[in-house]
Amino acid sequence: MENFINKVFQGNTIEKLREIPNDSVDLGITSPPYNKGEKNKGWLVKNVLYDKALDKKDETIYQNEQIEVLNELYRIMKPGGSFFYNHKTRWNKGIMLHPIIWITKTNWIIRQEIIWDRMIAANIRGWRFWQVDERIYWLMKPQNNEAIGEELLSKHALLTSIWRFPPERNNPHPAPFPIELPTRIIHSILNENNGIVIDPYSGSGTTLVASKLLKKNFIGIEISEDYITQSMERLENFNKEHKKVQEEINKHFVNKTFKERKEDGNNTGKFKNTQHEENHILTKENSLFD
Ligand SMILES: C[S@@+](CC[C@H](N)C(=O)[O-])C[C@H]1O[C@@H](n2cnc3c(N)ncnc32)[C@H](O)[C@@H]1O
Repeated sequence: MENFINKVFQGNTIEKLREIPNDSVDLGITSPPYNKGEKNKGWLVKNVLYDKALDKKDETIYQNEQIEVLNELYRIMKPGGSFFYNHKTRWNKGIMLHPIIWITKTNWIIRQEIIWDRMIAANIRGWRFWQVDERIYWLMKPQNNEAIGEELLSKHALLTSIWRFPPERNNPHPAPFPIELPTRIIHSILNENNGIVIDPYSGSGTTLVASKLLKKNFIGIEISEDYITQSMERLENFNKEHKKVQEEINKHFVNKTFKERKEDGNNTGKFKNTQHEENHILTKENSLFD
């Protein structure tokens, strides 16, 4: 594995993944190209045009490619490892294309569907309520045929299944995610443990910079040399992005863990979490104690 660690590989994702050994990576995060068709979106919304990749494929070919990539990621993931797959619902001539259609055809277990509230829509018309959400699928490779997996620490689980991060604005890449997003994932899943984090469509290197700041090893794959150059510059100057990563880390805390609350006998009724940017009510029904 030494040959792969802390590098960004230029090339086609599926081909590069095939070179990585079985059961060798701890965690993955990605936002693939969405196959949005590259249609002219009108005066209000900027088109997403990648440097070296077309985002306009026959939808069946696109979905089959994504299945192949996800299964290859499954092969290289250690048992018990997780992959976070960011995508969104799209519509083609009024028919919804939901990512769950192809995710359920892969080998992965779906551990959770997280809603990413981006707080901004790419709509300019009102055919539907403006779509501010994307999805993040937490996928898991079972260990010893066991599909439940390890429990998150309370300080991470309390961040809930709706994540509100505005899009990244200070990045010339056409579709970067904000660094808070991979930071939340890496910190929640690996916490203080070491590990290798892969982003198979690494773009401007956001996942890689978050991994470096959190002292994890990383592997990036990206087709565009220009985006790789941008990633290398970011990785060299990684400390410049320290503040946003630290602000995200500061959101992961609890005054009392679930276990302590239960031991104190006050796990019934409502638990109002005022520690984070929003107030979430956790009732007995959705507490970690089933
Ligand atoms: C949504 S962007 C990822 C952005 C990244 N999360 C970031 O924060 O910068 C998808 C990336 O996939 C790359 N890409 C598209 N097709 C590819 C392929 N077949 N192999 C490798 N990379 C590809 C594009 O160049 C683009 O940078």
